[in-house]
Amino acid sequence: MISSSMRTLLWLKRLMPEVRWTMWQNRSCSNSSIHKHLISKITATGPISVAEYMREALTNPVAGYYVKNDMLGAGGDFITSPEISQIFGELLGVWCVSEWMAAGKSNMFQLVELGPGRGSLASDILRVFSQLKTVLGETDISVHLVEVSPKLSQFQAECLTGGNTQSSDGDQPVYRSGTTRTGLPIYWYRRIEDIPRGFSVFLAHEFFDALPIHKFQKTEKGWREVMVDIDPESPEKLRFVVSHSPTLASSVLIQKDENRKHVEVCPEGGVIVQKLANRIAEDGGAALIVDYGHDGTKTDTFRGFKGHQLHNVLEAPGMADMTADVDFSYLRKMTGNEVTCLGPITQRSFLKNMGIDSRLQVLLRNCHDPSTRAQLIHSYDMLINPEKMGHRFQFFSVLNRGRLSQYKGMQKNTAPLPVAGFAELDIQ
Ligand SMILES: C[S@@+](CC[C@H](N)C(=O)[O-])C[C@H]1O[C@@H](n2cnc3c(N)ncnc32)[C@H](O)[C@@H]1O
Repeated sequence: MISSSMRTLLWLKRLMPEVRWTMWQNRSCSNSSIHKHLISKITATGPISVAEYMREALTNPVAGYYVKNDMLGAGGDFITSPEISQIFGELLGVWCVSEWMAAGKSNMFQLVELGPGRGSLASDILRVFSQLKTVLGETDISVHLVEVSPKLSQFQAECLTGGNTQSSDGDQPVYRSGTTRTGLPIYWYRRIEDIPRGFSVFLAHEFFDALPIHKFQKTEKGWREVMVDIDPESPEKLRFVVSHSPTLASSVLIQKDENRKHVEVCPEGGVIVQKLANRIAEDGGAALIVDYGHDGTKTDTFRGFKGHQLHNVLEAPGMADMTADVDFSYLRKMTGNEVTCLGPITQRSFLKNMGIDSRLQVLLRNCHDPSTRAQLIHSYDMLINPEKMGHRFQFFSVLNRGRLSQYKGMQKNTAPLPVAGFAELDIQ
């Protein structure tokens, strides 16, 4: 049986090649409530950093892009790899199990996902866990989701539990909990630090690119931060300005050996990956970070998307998606010396290494409906074609040092290998 994660082809027909996999219906560009709020704030206290601007636009508790009620409604949606094909989540599920096995089959296993969107990735992974019951045995498995959007957490709850959850009042660390359709305990948090300690496999798919970045420009006077200000010619408009003097961020976030002229730094991403690394070093486990990204080479990547098109990031904040490529060299630096980092490698390489070709063959063998077969092949192509998502997305992993011995002699750009034969499993 093909799961409902063949949920996408309708959407894909409408996607244009250069567009982030995010879709919005056309909406007015003018004067979102966040726009008004930011104009008042800048009028009162002066220009704000790009990081503050991005944080307000994406996660403002009332009107942020990810928080608003209608984000997943008829008016807007985003398409990401887990939404394109069930195979994506299945292979990541196999990766999780293979890391758990390679780490010595700990008797507790926390699956942690950061920014789970609609819950499709976790859902496909949990189906794999069910199919691999004999491998996982009596392991105490639990699911932990870090999600800033209460509304998206409802979609996740519906997808993963069929609505079988309870919500907590106020600022409790666990704001929602329940039991998955496959019978596992599941919890929702706002912050990583609230997740219980213990062996964990962390997944972050298109999460780090949504975290706020600072932007810096090299000038004759040294590094200066790029700020967001009001355009004096048009008081309703925002514009970028370069700070006259150093800011705290420009003093502490630029590396001494930096030789680019323009740099974006995501300190929040750095802090989060540091927390993951500390946990992986102390409690065991692994992290897989999948995103648009580069290895410390790109400069100006901050961009907005709206209505299938590139969108001016300074227009209609809160009503358009904002993203910046993830700097994996920065994440690697922030993990420290107690863990091993592998990658980034392309999505194509990772999925090929994980056996996507064999998995596709198994699904095709079990499927006789011509249109579903065509969809399977089309979505496979979307995921791995270098012109589509195959090279645009990068996989980066953080592993416990205990895994290092298994990678002796391997290149930096090498993906963890799957446990042989998993991809051929007949996971329906
Ligand atoms: C681009 S979506 C990706 C969704 C999903 N991983 C996928 O690939 O389909 C980003 C996700 O991260 C969540 N998110 C964004 N910023 C966050 C933050 N600071 N803390 C927790 N979740 C956040 C969003 O609400 C959303 O679920």
